[in-house]
Amino acid sequence: MEYRVKDITLADIGKKRIDWAESHMPVLNALRKKFESTKPLQGIKVAGCLHVTKETGVLTKTLKAAGAEVSWCGCNPLSTQDDVAASLARDQEIGIFASRGVSTEEYYSDIHSSMKLGPNITIDDGADLTVEIHNSLSSSSSSSSSSSSSSRPSITKDDLYGGTEETTTGVIRLRAMEKSGKLMYPILAVNDAETKHDFDNVYGTGQSALDGIIRATNVLIAGKNIVVAGYGHVGKGIAKRAAGLGANVIVTEIDPISALKAKLDGYFVTYMDDAAAKGDIFITTTGCKDVISLNNISKMKNGAILANAGHFNVEIAVAELDKNALKKDPINDHVMMYELSQNNKVYLIGEGRLVNLAAAEGHPSEVMDMSFANQFLSVLRLATTGKDLKPMVYNIDKSQDQEIALAKIESMNVKIDVLSPQQKEYLEGFSEGT
Ligand code: NAD
Ligand code: ADE
Repeated sequence: MEYRVKDITLADIGKKRIDWAESHMPVLNALRKKFESTKPLQGIKVAGCLHVTKETGVLTKTLKAAGAEVSWCGCNPLSTQDDVAASLARDQEIGIFASRGVSTEEYYSDIHSSMKLGPNITIDDGADLTVEIHNSLSSSSSSSSSSSSSSRPSITKDDLYGGTEETTTGVIRLRAMEKSGKLMYPILAVNDAETKHDFDNVYGTGQSALDGIIRATNVLIAGKNIVVAGYGHVGKGIAKRAAGLGANVIVTEIDPISALKAKLDGYFVTYMDDAAAKGDIFITTTGCKDVISLNNISKMKNGAILANAGHFNVEIAVAELDKNALKKDPINDHVMMYELSQNNKVYLIGEGRLVNLAAAEGHPSEVMDMSFANQFLSVLRLATTGKDLKPMVYNIDKSQDQEIALAKIESMNVKIDVLSPQQKEYLEGFSEGT
């Protein structure tokens, strides 16, 4: 298999880390054991564009065990774990094209290399692969991507059964493509499964974003004013963990319902320009752009720390910081100091890219277990019925959520009650009242 990784000699370390993740992913392991003899993905080509982490290594192993031919690339320039990439190339014989710290050009070249497999099914996180496949299919240059078309391979539409999408921002992009009549093949919105977004986005990012900030800076969270921009799934997870560590949490929102939830959950809610002067640490979680502007930054305390947990690096005004800083100085591998004036130094983590993957290891394996069980079952569904689906974005069946949640609680030895026939009848009827 052709591959492009940073250092193939890191494969031993990567293999051990994938094994560690595997031992914490019981639901995905059970699926591998269930399907490794029948190989329902035999003859199916899967191209993935999703953070190359030890947990992703367990997903690719499961896809291969079920018979799929797999190619893969990273979905963020700073999230690839190079030891894992090396192991995927050497131990799993995956066509892997990824390394940490790629330029935008290299990033798209890696996506194009993974497309060369000629996929039947795509797995995406943020929709960059799906958009590139659409650019290839339409051969029009009208789509807004920063990729160079020179290395983009041509794709045969008839080969495509469908794709999956892992994250909120990707689902929003793909629904926008559907709405504008541009979506050419069906997508299963893995993010929108309850066993994905109510756990991965909330508990996964809640823990791993703070992990990234702490690993990068080792600052004390207790007593700090932490500004969380956005109080959706990711924002509420981070706010709760930060409060649990003793921070005073300030929330900014644009949606009155989410703002109200934050207020009643006990946080101080205000607009960013006000929060700017109050915060010690800022974490964006919105999926929107221009959330922290240069003007906001100019009002911040000297020494403020900035981090982003949203999918793309568009939430904090990084380009303006680069342009306007009097001085820029790296503090360590993950933190850059920007001096805007003598009393206005700020510290940006991970270039404003997903802080949990740029400065830490991403979500814990136990959470990715459910996200990737959803990915695997969605790929199985596309392999069997994808060709019958229209080019639309589909929600995940409730039965898939139930199956995954049941397997997860069983693996945690959690016991629950079962409805009696009388209770079932009561819940389904209307005749019994006061
Ligand atoms: P969500 O829709 O549940 O929440 C987003 C919230 O941000 C909403 O409440 C919205 O009203 C608010 N918002 C939007 N624009 C805003 C603005 N300008 N200022 C303040 N608030 C604003 O989405 P989510 O599931 O929480 O995902 C948020 C982002 O995080 C997405 O980009 C998603 O792809 C990404 N994500 C990252 C990780 C990770 O590993 N870092 C994991 C899951 C999701
Ligand atoms: N997204 C967030 N955390 C992740 C992880 N550990 N692996 C893959 N994708 C992720």
